[in-house]
Amino acid sequence: MDTMTITKAGGALCASLLVFLLGLWAAEGLYHVGHDGHGGEVAMGYEIVVEDPTEVAEADAAPEVPFEEVYASASAAEGERLWRQCSACHNLEGSNATGPYLNGVVGREKGSVDGYNYSDALLGLGQDWTPENLSGFLLNPREYAPGTKMAYRGMAEVEDRANLIAYLDETGG
Ligand code: HEC
Repeated sequence: MDTMTITKAGGALCASLLVFLLGLWAAEGLYHVGHDGHGGEVAMGYEIVVEDPTEVAEADAAPEVPFEEVYASASAAEGERLWRQCSACHNLEGSNATGPYLNGVVGREKGSVDGYNYSDALLGLGQDWTPENLSGFLLNPREYAPGTKMAYRGMAEVEDRANLIAYLDETGG
């Protein structure tokens, strides 16, 4: 075999490989076009199903157990560790800091600490700090009380909120 033959053979091999790859690519493209077109329709149909209120309720209920249920078996000891996230701004000894003191906050009327300068957002909430209300506030303070001056982004895990509130409940009195 001379060099030319080897080059030609190599070229032919490369060319056929390229054709093969192009073929694969084209087939995949075709497959995807068909799939996407079809998938799109299916997805739209599915979205309508998801927007059904009962479906949404079921979907929401699945990943998160209701707060009341979690709170019933909450651990104050676990909650004590989470208190660190609050202690920069809150005290548990009856003195106000950046935020109002939180000893006895569970069951306390919202915005009721004497001498603490609450935002209008907080004063306008009404009701008491029941465990449920505290959970709602701590999940997302700015959504629960739009305009609040509590600069805390929220505690996502329902177990964490329940444990922390159980801890706060022990500070009562
Ligand atoms: C960066 C400071 C800061 C952090 C961190 C913070 N808070 Fe606050 N908190 C505040 C301020 C300020 C207010 C007053 C809000 C207002 O008046 O709008 C407040 C208000 C509250 C209130 C309402 C009390 C009442 O008397 O009505 C509760 C309950 C509360 N915080 C709980 C917590 C908990 C629990 C944590 C920890 C997970 C926490 N906060 C973390 C600053 C903070």
